Amino acid sequence: MKITIIVGTRPEIIKMSPIIYECEKSNLDYFILHTGQHYTYDMDRVFFEQLELPQPKFNLNIGSSSHAVQTGKMLIGIEEILQREKPDTVLVEGDTNTVLAGALAAVKLHIKIGHVEAGLRSYDRFMPEEINRVLTDHCSDFLFAPTEKSKQNLLKESIQEDKIFVTGNTIVDAVFKSRQLSAKKSNILKELKLKKEKYFLVTIHRQENSDNRSRFDGILTGLKQLIKKYNIPVIYPIHPRAQKKIQEFNLNSEGITLIKPLDFLDFLQLQENARVVLTDSGGVQEESCILGVPCVTLRNNTERPETLDIGANILAGTNPEKIVDCVALMDTKSEKWTNPFGLGDTGQKIVKIVKEVI
Ligand code: UD1
Ligand code: UDP
Repeated sequence: MKITIIVGTRPEIIKMSPIIYECEKSNLDYFILHTGQHYTYDMDRVFFEQLELPQPKFNLNIGSSSHAVQTGKMLIGIEEILQREKPDTVLVEGDTNTVLAGALAAVKLHIKIGHVEAGLRSYDRFMPEEINRVLTDHCSDFLFAPTEKSKQNLLKESIQEDKIFVTGNTIVDAVFKSRQLSAKKSNILKELKLKKEKYFLVTIHRQENSDNRSRFDGILTGLKQLIKKYNIPVIYPIHPRAQKKIQEFNLNSEGITLIKPLDFLDFLQLQENARVVLTDSGGVQEESCILGVPCVTLRNNTERPETLDIGANILAGTNPEKIVDCVALMDTKSEKWTNPFGLGDTGQKIVKIVKEVI
């Protein structure tokens, strides 16, 4: 049995890492195919180095472009490699253009597809990620749903029950593996002169926020109001997409501490010690919930409703006053919740299923 693991972006590298470790442990015949959707050192290579992952056998170096051009080039490149390498199974993770291209290329070649993190739904078709998720789930033969809720989403779309496996989310494995190492090795709090729970941590990069001037401006205004109200810093490791848009839209980010994207250990350390995390990222909503840090989501919906149900997260949208109100609400949270995304054995479970069933 031969497996192709497709990755392309920062979160896919992090969330595929537990599966890659398991493939290594089980001595499986597998290789990594990187589309090159992310390519700058701090969005890509740093994670291979820090997580000690093997080199991709192929990197298509597709880079950035419009959705159609990027996805089209990936489709062509992935098909060529799959035809040459003839794997039995392709594994994709999440909801990026890399995932959609991998699934489309594989399904037309009659190669089995396993979708890691299947069944997430925001029910917002304006998001490119929602289109990618729905299409990938419907191409897949094995759907690794993180929770019972994501399984139910798939059943509602008439996906056959015997294709669905509730496994938890590999992000729990990744966080558990790196949490202690992060506490031991990361000096980021010292470097930024921060004290535990005396700063807010922010990430914003989603297309619907960063590419929309008024939504992005609303968020930045809310962040500046937080600095004034609490008199503590707001730390924003900025994604290259958002960095470009701040310049293009000439937005005012004065007072907000913008820093370059961080490696995983530094970012975990900043999350773990933040007073509240504010984000539009999918992975960061999950991680803050796993780490027990309250989260304010800068969106009108989420495909991670489990985090809302247990009180770990709240939807604020992009209105400045609403953001400040939601932070005040989450800041008073003292109860602890149980992480709904599994016990940290998801990578192991998925590889076992791949070996036994596929
Ligand atoms: C992509 C995913 C998004 C995911 C995010 C993870 C899609 C449709 N979107 O968004 O779901 O949450 O990755 O971070 O697949 N850029 C660089 N260096 C890089 C990568 C990107 O400078 O290594 C800049 C380029 O200017 C590029 C922009 O970021 O145009 C956007 O990159 P792209 O890969 O198109 O989408 P992301 O916003 O990263
Ligand atoms: N992350 C990181 N450094 C940063 C910001 C995020 O290592 O500066 C990690 C974070 O821990 C999480 C993942 O990147 O595991 C989330 O990726 P991102 O927000 O880019 O994408 P999404 O999850 O929204 O698809």
